[in-house]
Amino acid sequence: MGLYEQIQETAQAIRQRAGGLAPTLGIILGSGLGPFADGFARQVVIPYAELPHFPHSSVPGHAGRLVLGQVGAATVVAMQGRVHAYEGYSPSQVTLPARVLCALGIEALVVTNAAGGIHPQFSPGDLMVITDHINLSGWNALAGPNDDRLGTRFPDMSQAYSPGLRARLLESAQRREVPLRQGVYAMVAGPSYETPAEIRMLRTLGADAVGMSTVPEVVVARHMGVPVVGISCITNLAAGVGTEPLSHDEVAETAQRTAGIFSRLLTDFLSGAARN
Ligand code: 6GU
Repeated sequence: MGLYEQIQETAQAIRQRAGGLAPTLGIILGSGLGPFADGFARQVVIPYAELPHFPHSSVPGHAGRLVLGQVGAATVVAMQGRVHAYEGYSPSQVTLPARVLCALGIEALVVTNAAGGIHPQFSPGDLMVITDHINLSGWNALAGPNDDRLGTRFPDMSQAYSPGLRARLLESAQRREVPLRQGVYAMVAGPSYETPAEIRMLRTLGADAVGMSTVPEVVVARHMGVPVVGISCITNLAAGVGTEPLSHDEVAETAQRTAGIFSRLLTDFLSGAARN
């Protein structure tokens, strides 16, 4: 079965279980940010393991679930957890979930992640709207034969992160009094964190934050013509920016600590999106 058919089959399986919910917004929740979806009204929860073709981690507690529901007047579909290429998944497996959300007919995709702060003014706990990205992963999700039913061979990335949606996110931040940084997200392959010399290189290249996800999903969403908005939770300072050694525990703890402002920002943005 080809990729196109897999996407359609998975989307159909979701529609059959969605209890009539037709999401207009998709959201991918990064490390530690998953609990946001627990607040949805009219929840329908589908474990990834119950969906055809959907990649899921076999580690208990990391399996991941799809949560459909309502935020204000908006009908949304959220991914609680994502898989990464460093876990051994292929580029098409990593990006299939984002493609399936797009195939459900969403009008915008919200991507979120935990990221290390490179900009000297960033602190752990800051939220950053992604203005652009630098793909340093060493791969591109669109490599291989192109299926023209999904999108064009050479998609434009000059406005990968929708200026209109970014402006609306900044409005939400002002309205809800949530401080919001702006900056460029660099994706590296991981899973080791960077060395201080690598972080100095990334700063020179124009990166404000660094992480191991998001770019592949943004590339496939843009391939399929879906507008994207991105938020990084700065969970820690990158190597050499601060003095502390890096740990995933710190990443998870800081992401959990931002749950309050993250949820205020996203709730306003998502329910506002339904008004517009
Ligand atoms: Cl410092 N680096 C990378 N690659 N990913 C991260 C991070 C740093 N902090 C959170 N995620």
